[in-house]
Order: sequence, then C-alpha cells, then structure tokens
Amino acid sequence: MRLVLLGPPGAGKGTQGHPLAERYGVPLISTGDIFRTHLSRGTALGVQAKDYMERGELVPDDVVVWMVVGRLAEPDTENGFILDGFPRTLPQARALGEALEERETPLSAVLNFNVDDEVLVKRLAARRICGDCQRTYNLDLKPPQEEGICDVCGGKLIQRSDDEEETVRRRLDVYHEEAGRLSDYFGEKGLLRKIDADGTVDEVLERAIEAAHT
Ligand code: AP5
Repeated sequence: MRLVLLGPPGAGKGTQGHPLAERYGVPLISTGDIFRTHLSRGTALGVQAKDYMERGELVPDDVVVWMVVGRLAEPDTENGFILDGFPRTLPQARALGEALEERETPLSAVLNFNVDDEVLVKRLAARRICGDCQRTYNLDLKPPQEEGICDVCGGKLIQRSDDEEETVRRRLDVYHEEAGRLSDYFGEKGLLRKIDADGTVDEVLERAIEAAHT
C-alpha cells in the first residue's frame, strides 16, 4: 500500500497515519515529525527548518524533496509507505511522481481529509504530542491515562510551538493557498479520495480504509 495523506493542519493525518501504517505493515513517513526530530537534535536540517516552522510557513521545496526522496529509498519502504504532510505543493507532488515512476511503484491512493477550519483551531489548541515517539493526544477527546505522560512509551507530552492560535491560522492560510492545486493534480490522475474527517477517530479510520481500497 502506498498512500498519501492530504489535509489541513489538525485534520487527523498523524492520528490516522499510525493505525493505517500498522494495518498495512508499512512505515509512516511524516515530514513534520522528521523536521521536529532534527530540530530537537539541533542538526543542520533542523536549524534550516526552524524559522519556517515557527512562522507556520512551508520549508523550501528543494529541502523537503531531498529529504523525502532519500527516505523513500530506504529498504523498509519496499512494501509501501504512508506519507503524512508530503507533498504540500505542486513541485513536491511532481517530484514524488518522478521518484515513484523511476522505481515503478505508483501511488495506491491519496486520502484527502476535510474538516472545517474552526474545528481545526479548537483541536490544535488541545493537542499534545509525545516528545519521544510523537504519538498524538487531545486534552478534550483523547487525554493520556496519566497526565503529561505518553501511554505508549512513557515519554513527556509537550505542546507544539506552532499550535498557538495565530500560527495555526497562518498554517491554515498556507494550506488553503496550495490545496486546490494539489487536489486538482491528484484528481486528474484518478487518485484522490475525499474523506469527511469530522467524526470520531474510529469512524474516520473506517472511512479512510474504505477509501484506500476504492
Ligand atoms: P506537520 O507536522 O505536517 O503539520 P500539519 O500538516 O500542519 O499537520 P498537523 O500535524 O498539525 O495535523 P494532523 O493532520 O497530523 O493532525 P493530528 O492527527 O495531529 O508540519 C509542521 C510544519 O513542518 C509545517 O508548518 C511546515 O513548516 C513544515 N513542513 C512539514 N511538511 C512539509 C512539506 N511537505 N513542505 C514544506 N514544509 C513542510 O490531530 C490534531 C489534533 O486533533 C490532535 O489533538 C488529535 O488527537 C485530534 N484529532 C484527530 N482526529 C480527531 C477526530 N476525528 N476527532 C477529534 N479530534 C481529533
């Protein structure tokens, strides 16, 4: 299974990406998580991405494409992958298409998660993530069993610096600027599957699985 998860910030790409990756036995490749790992380790890539991420802007295409194409060449992607947060622009989508064409491994589907902006702002204000394994929680709907601690690995839960409301609104604007072009691109290729992502996590997962097989 080779899937792309598209959708605005807070739509649930990461939340759904983990169970989908487990179900299909493929790695979840999240560009946001990769950048956050580099940031926390203070690598050159992290330093490069930091200002863009804090402003809610996109990291330049050449940096992201280089990073993802390299990641897709790793052996654990042999049976597929789930891409969360990539591609986000038309040049990224074209670069992905070229890399997959070269390997004769076309995408299975592109799942496009849709939710109203005001629901997203609320979701992101309540989001906490594990600083170690990046699992996602929600203080309103999916709190951890023990306050501030990840249920899965025991890591410390943190709030992402780009989940401040002002930055979230900028991220939503940036998303909407590119979203139409990306969905047209994948729609023309017959890959786009629209998913109503306003429902419980289990309901949305069911819709995603169904869409991935149509
Ligand atoms: P990234 O980390 O990819 O952020 P994003 O796309 O803005 O998406 P999020 O991670 O905020 O949301 P999500 O859809 O994964 O939602 P989640 O499942 O966590 O990117 C961050 C930054 O990195 C970018 O701004 C950019 O600077 C840079 N970057 C990354 N990729 C790039 C690229 N390709 N090109 C250039 N720059 C790039 O859910 C959110 C909350 O809602 C959680 O609390 C969750 O528990 C809750 N929730 C989930 N589903 C439901 C539900 N069904 N009902 C109720 N609550 C729910």
